[in-house]
Amino acid sequence: MTEKYKIQGGEPLRGEISVCGAKNSVLKLFAASILVSGVTKIYNVPNLTDVNVMLQVLRDLGAKLDYNKGEKSVVVDATNISSVTAKYELVSKMRASFTILGALISRCKEAIVALPGGCAIGERRVDFHIKGLETLGAKIKIENGYVHAKAPKLVGADIYLDIPSVGATENLMLAAVTAEGSTRIQNAAQEPEIVDLANFLNTIGADINGAGTSEIVINGVKQSSLHSAEYTTIPDRIEAGTFIAAVVGTRGKAVIKNVYPAHLTFFNDKLIKMGANIKLADPTTIEVSTKGRLNSINFVTQPYPGFPTDLQAIAMTLLTTANGVGIITESLYENRFMQVPDLRRMGADIHQDRNHAIIKGVKNLTGANVVASDLRAGAALVLAGLMANGETIVEKLHHIDRGYEFFEKKLRDLGGKIQRYNDETNIEQGVLNESRL
Ligand code: EPU
Repeated sequence: MTEKYKIQGGEPLRGEISVCGAKNSVLKLFAASILVSGVTKIYNVPNLTDVNVMLQVLRDLGAKLDYNKGEKSVVVDATNISSVTAKYELVSKMRASFTILGALISRCKEAIVALPGGCAIGERRVDFHIKGLETLGAKIKIENGYVHAKAPKLVGADIYLDIPSVGATENLMLAAVTAEGSTRIQNAAQEPEIVDLANFLNTIGADINGAGTSEIVINGVKQSSLHSAEYTTIPDRIEAGTFIAAVVGTRGKAVIKNVYPAHLTFFNDKLIKMGANIKLADPTTIEVSTKGRLNSINFVTQPYPGFPTDLQAIAMTLLTTANGVGIITESLYENRFMQVPDLRRMGADIHQDRNHAIIKGVKNLTGANVVASDLRAGAALVLAGLMANGETIVEKLHHIDRGYEFFEKKLRDLGGKIQRYNDETNIEQGVLNESRL
């Protein structure tokens, strides 16, 4: 079934929406849940296809799951883990499932996890994950596209990451939870999702300090001392940023709830420099509005707390109609300007030279047929469609469904003219099926 969005642009977004739980956090919380030989309950679980893939990984290992749609919660019963294999069919669909490697090593002292391979936005290697796990004492072989890890005894160590990789920090934290002695991860990733994972692990009985700084210390505990717990996932800062940009780009006015503004300081600051009004209404609510044309800015994507690469494409869309010339430097991925050819088809003036993009603002974008090439590039094209004059069709929605819960419904709640329809029948599908999980 080929589903597409049909967007009628030019409508300012107005109203109120609430942000869901963070995709890039909850996926790792689910991996971590298998450390407990018992039951954990995770709240604020977003209804996304990526979540579905991670839950399938857990089911394959032998965990029992119970999804409560009304509560947006999932109970994971990992009392019995009967397999240590995460197969290629799942890991290749969703790279974050590679985090199960560290969790399996911690819980079962053994893991067989498919190597994720490259993806549309870049090579995305896992060498730091492997080297770090070896430093902790895991014996690792790569055979037939799978990582085979055996770790009868893990011993804490000092590990320095060449770059602050989010996934490597998470895999190493998970493995080190039950290692003997202390592990120190230096040049660790500092993303809010790392803090959320550390908080979850501490809630189940781990001993982790320093998450959110560049040095994390994990004091190993006995696996048998880890226990059942309930935990609520943090709000999704990238979803929040996407909606802030959508309100700003359509010159609308909206209230965005369930946000942690501190997680978006850099992004919001750049938008304020462009001319947006972003005000704190209460600790988890922000009010966003804009009048008139935005001004161009320059930015470089950086690990947290710098400008998030996951909002780069969205910000590029804002620059396409801003006053002046803006320069974006993408420093994390080799190939994350995939939205550029489609934005050009909508009238944007963008010059790309390797990891730099120079965007000369035009007065208006015009609607066109475009294709989502990955999750964030897809969201950027939806935003372009909402800002453009006329009709935009966005194809390949499965990329967008990976990371945005009920995207079109939330945009429609804000007055956006966006419909999902099936190409074959031309019948609008409406919001996504809530029983997906
Ligand atoms: N890298 C290596 N070797 C490694 C690990 C990483 O060379 O062993 C490189 C990667 O190739 C990449 C850079 O380091 O160029 C950053 O990778 P990192 O490991 O930090 O990213 P990740 O854990 O694979 C997570 C998010 C991404 C987000 C990045 C950066 C999840 C599931 N994914 O990926 O989110 O872009 O951190 O913030 O947490 C998205 O949500 O659209 C998304 C791609």
